[in-house]
Amino acid sequence: MRVLHTEEQLRQGVERMASEIAHAYGDRPLTIVSVLTGSVVLLADLIRMLEMPLRVGVIEASSYGGARTTRGELTVNAELLLDIRDRDVLLVDDIFDTGHTLVKVVEKVQELGAASVRTAVLLRKHGRQEVSAQPDFVGFEIPDEFVVGYGLDYDDHYRNLPYLGVLEQADLDRHHELFAASEKQ
Ligand code: IMP
Ligand code: MG
Repeated sequence: MRVLHTEEQLRQGVERMASEIAHAYGDRPLTIVSVLTGSVVLLADLIRMLEMPLRVGVIEASSYGGARTTRGELTVNAELLLDIRDRDVLLVDDIFDTGHTLVKVVEKVQELGAASVRTAVLLRKHGRQEVSAQPDFVGFEIPDEFVVGYGLDYDDHYRNLPYLGVLEQADLDRHHELFAASEKQ
Protein backbone atom coordinates (compact mmCIF):
# COMPACT_ATOMS: atom_id res chain seq x y z
CA MET A 1 0.00 0.00 0.00
CA ARG A 2 1.30 3.45 -0.88
CA VAL A 3 1.96 5.59 2.21
CA LEU A 4 0.49 9.09 2.04
CA HIS A 5 1.42 10.19 5.57
CA THR A 6 3.73 8.35 7.94
CA GLU A 7 3.03 7.81 11.61
CA GLU A 8 5.42 10.65 12.44
CA GLN A 9 3.79 13.05 9.96
CA LEU A 10 0.37 12.21 11.39
CA ARG A 11 1.61 12.94 14.90
CA GLN A 12 2.93 16.33 13.83
CA GLY A 13 -0.33 17.20 12.04
CA VAL A 14 -2.44 16.23 15.04
CA GLU A 15 -0.14 18.19 17.34
CA ARG A 16 -0.55 21.26 15.15
CA MET A 17 -4.31 20.85 15.25
CA ALA A 18 -4.25 20.37 19.04
CA SER A 19 -2.38 23.63 19.54
CA GLU A 20 -4.87 25.49 17.30
CA ILE A 21 -7.72 24.04 19.35
CA ALA A 22 -6.02 24.95 22.64
CA HIS A 23 -5.47 28.47 21.35
CA ALA A 24 -9.11 28.82 20.24
CA TYR A 25 -10.66 27.61 23.51
CA GLY A 26 -8.10 28.65 26.12
CA ASP A 27 -9.17 27.23 29.49
CA ARG A 28 -12.85 26.97 28.55
CA PRO A 29 -14.20 23.51 29.40
CA LEU A 30 -14.80 21.54 26.27
CA THR A 31 -16.96 18.58 25.29
CA ILE A 32 -15.30 16.60 22.54
CA VAL A 33 -17.67 14.44 20.53
CA SER A 34 -16.17 11.75 18.34
CA VAL A 35 -18.09 10.68 15.25
CA LEU A 36 -17.97 6.88 15.22
CA THR A 37 -16.14 4.97 14.04
CA GLY A 38 -13.48 6.57 11.87
CA SER A 39 -12.39 9.22 14.37
CA VAL A 40 -11.52 6.99 17.34
CA VAL A 41 -7.77 6.92 16.65
CA LEU A 42 -7.63 10.69 16.19
CA LEU A 43 -9.73 11.11 19.34
CA ALA A 44 -7.34 9.05 21.44
CA ASP A 45 -4.29 10.98 20.25
CA LEU A 46 -5.90 14.43 20.26
CA ILE A 47 -7.34 14.36 23.78
CA ARG A 48 -3.94 13.43 25.23
CA MET A 49 -2.45 16.56 23.63
CA LEU A 50 -5.05 18.89 25.19
CA GLU A 51 -4.71 20.24 28.71
CA MET A 52 -7.97 22.13 29.23
CA PRO A 53 -10.74 20.43 31.24
CA LEU A 54 -12.67 18.24 28.82
CA ARG A 55 -15.36 15.59 28.55
CA VAL A 56 -15.57 12.98 25.82
CA GLY A 57 -18.66 11.64 24.11
CA VAL A 58 -19.53 9.67 20.99
CA ILE A 59 -22.15 9.96 18.30
CA GLU A 60 -22.74 7.60 15.43
CA ALA A 61 -23.16 8.55 11.80
CA SER A 62 -23.87 5.80 9.37
CA SER A 63 -25.00 5.42 5.83
CA TYR A 64 -26.41 2.47 4.02
CA GLY A 65 -24.62 1.96 0.74
CA GLY A 66 -21.19 1.22 -0.66
CA ALA A 67 -18.16 0.12 1.31
CA ARG A 68 -16.23 3.26 0.44
CA THR A 69 -17.99 6.48 1.24
CA THR A 70 -21.30 8.06 2.06
CA ARG A 71 -24.03 6.84 -0.21
CA GLY A 72 -27.71 6.61 0.34
CA GLU A 73 -29.56 7.65 3.46
CA LEU A 74 -27.42 9.11 6.23
CA THR A 75 -28.55 8.59 9.81
CA VAL A 76 -27.23 10.09 13.04
CA ASN A 77 -27.63 8.14 16.26
CA ALA A 78 -27.16 10.16 19.46
CA GLU A 79 -28.31 7.46 21.88
CA LEU A 80 -24.82 6.98 23.32
CA LEU A 81 -24.08 10.68 23.58
CA LEU A 82 -23.58 12.30 26.99
CA ASP A 83 -25.53 15.46 27.91
CA ILE A 84 -24.31 18.36 25.78
CA ARG A 85 -26.92 20.99 26.64
CA ASP A 86 -25.25 24.43 27.07
CA ARG A 87 -21.80 22.96 26.46
CA ASP A 88 -19.13 24.05 24.02
CA VAL A 89 -18.87 21.08 21.68
CA LEU A 90 -15.99 20.19 19.40
CA LEU A 91 -16.99 17.51 16.91
CA VAL A 92 -14.13 15.30 15.75
CA ASP A 93 -14.33 13.31 12.53
CA ASP A 94 -11.92 11.40 10.32
CA ILE A 95 -12.45 13.05 6.95
CA PHE A 96 -14.35 15.85 5.30
CA ASP A 97 -15.23 14.45 1.90
CA THR A 98 -18.53 15.69 0.44
CA GLY A 99 -19.20 17.24 3.86
CA HIS A 100 -22.74 15.90 4.21
CA THR A 101 -21.93 13.75 7.26
CA LEU A 102 -20.48 16.55 9.33
CA VAL A 103 -23.26 18.99 8.37
CA LYS A 104 -25.85 16.46 9.53
CA VAL A 105 -24.03 15.76 12.81
CA VAL A 106 -23.64 19.49 13.51
CA GLU A 107 -27.41 19.92 13.05
CA LYS A 108 -28.07 17.12 15.52
CA VAL A 109 -25.72 18.58 18.13
CA GLN A 110 -27.37 22.00 17.74
CA GLU A 111 -30.82 20.42 18.15
CA LEU A 112 -29.62 18.89 21.42
CA GLY A 113 -28.91 22.36 22.79
CA ALA A 114 -25.13 22.77 22.61
CA ALA A 115 -23.97 26.33 23.43
CA SER A 116 -21.52 26.24 20.51
CA VAL A 117 -20.36 23.70 17.93
CA ARG A 118 -17.06 23.60 16.10
CA THR A 119 -15.56 20.83 14.00
CA ALA A 120 -12.14 19.23 13.66
CA VAL A 121 -11.20 16.69 11.00
CA LEU A 122 -7.99 14.81 10.37
CA LEU A 123 -8.37 15.12 6.59
CA ARG A 124 -10.08 17.27 4.00
CA LYS A 125 -10.23 15.75 0.54
CA HIS A 126 -9.44 18.22 -2.20
CA GLY A 127 -12.20 19.24 -4.59
CA ARG A 128 -14.94 16.99 -3.21
CA GLN A 129 -17.10 19.28 -1.09
CA GLU A 130 -20.80 19.58 -1.81
CA VAL A 131 -21.69 21.81 1.15
CA SER A 132 -20.80 25.42 1.95
CA ALA A 133 -19.80 24.73 5.58
CA GLN A 134 -16.11 24.10 6.26
CA PRO A 135 -14.42 22.37 9.20
CA ASP A 136 -12.85 24.75 11.75
CA PHE A 137 -9.72 22.67 12.27
CA VAL A 138 -8.05 20.50 9.62
CA GLY A 139 -5.05 18.20 10.06
CA PHE A 140 -4.18 17.60 6.40
CA GLU A 141 -5.43 18.44 2.93
CA ILE A 142 -5.28 15.32 0.77
CA PRO A 143 -5.78 14.66 -2.93
CA ASP A 144 -8.93 12.95 -4.18
CA GLU A 145 -7.82 9.39 -3.47
CA PHE A 146 -9.29 6.69 -1.25
CA VAL A 147 -7.27 6.48 1.96
CA VAL A 148 -7.23 4.03 4.87
CA GLY A 149 -5.51 3.72 8.23
CA TYR A 150 -5.37 5.81 11.41
CA GLY A 151 -9.07 5.07 11.90
CA LEU A 152 -10.23 5.20 8.29
CA ASP A 153 -11.63 2.03 6.80
CA TYR A 154 -12.41 0.21 3.63
CA ASP A 155 -15.16 -2.31 4.23
CA ASP A 156 -14.52 -1.94 8.01
CA HIS A 157 -10.88 -3.03 7.66
CA TYR A 158 -7.50 -1.22 7.90
CA ARG A 159 -8.49 1.18 10.72
CA ASN A 160 -5.55 -0.17 12.75
CA LEU A 161 -2.79 0.90 10.33
CA PRO A 162 -0.63 3.48 12.15
CA TYR A 163 0.00 5.37 8.87
CA LEU A 164 -2.32 6.77 6.20
CA GLY A 165 -2.25 4.69 3.04
CA VAL A 166 -3.79 4.98 -0.41
CA LEU A 167 -5.80 1.93 -1.37
CA GLU A 168 -4.90 1.12 -4.96
CA GLN A 169 -6.39 -1.41 -7.36
CA ALA A 170 -3.87 -4.12 -6.40
CA ASP A 171 -4.75 -3.64 -2.71
CA LEU A 172 -8.45 -3.88 -3.53
CA ASP A 173 -7.92 -7.09 -5.51
CA ARG A 174 -5.97 -8.58 -2.61
CA HIS A 175 -8.65 -7.51 -0.14
CA HIS A 176 -11.39 -9.19 -2.13
CA GLU A 177 -9.32 -12.33 -2.60
CA LEU A 178 -8.74 -12.52 1.17
CA PHE A 179 -12.33 -11.91 2.13
CA ALA A 180 -14.16 -13.48 -0.79
CA ALA A 181 -14.70 -16.69 1.19
CA SER A 182 -16.25 -14.96 4.20
CA GLU A 183 -18.35 -12.69 1.99
CA LYS A 184 -19.96 -15.72 0.36
CA GLN A 185 -20.98 -17.25 3.68
P1 IMP B 1 -18.82 12.82 3.62
O1 IMP B 1 -20.19 12.80 4.23
O2 IMP B 1 -18.85 12.66 2.13
O3 IMP B 1 -17.98 13.99 4.03
O4 IMP B 1 -18.12 11.49 4.04
C1 IMP B 1 -17.54 11.30 5.21
C2 IMP B 1 -17.39 9.82 5.47
O5 IMP B 1 -17.12 9.07 4.28
C3 IMP B 1 -16.20 9.66 6.36
O6 IMP B 1 -16.54 9.79 7.72
C4 IMP B 1 -15.71 8.29 5.97
O7 IMP B 1 -16.38 7.30 6.73
C5 IMP B 1 -16.08 8.13 4.51
N1 IMP B 1 -14.93 8.43 3.61
C6 IMP B 1 -14.84 9.42 2.69
N2 IMP B 1 -13.67 9.37 2.04
C7 IMP B 1 -12.99 8.34 2.56
C8 IMP B 1 -11.69 7.77 2.32
O8 IMP B 1 -10.89 8.22 1.46
N3 IMP B 1 -11.35 6.69 3.06
C9 IMP B 1 -12.16 6.16 4.01
N4 IMP B 1 -13.38 6.65 4.30
C10 IMP B 1 -13.79 7.74 3.57
MG1 MG C 1 -16.28 5.01 7.02
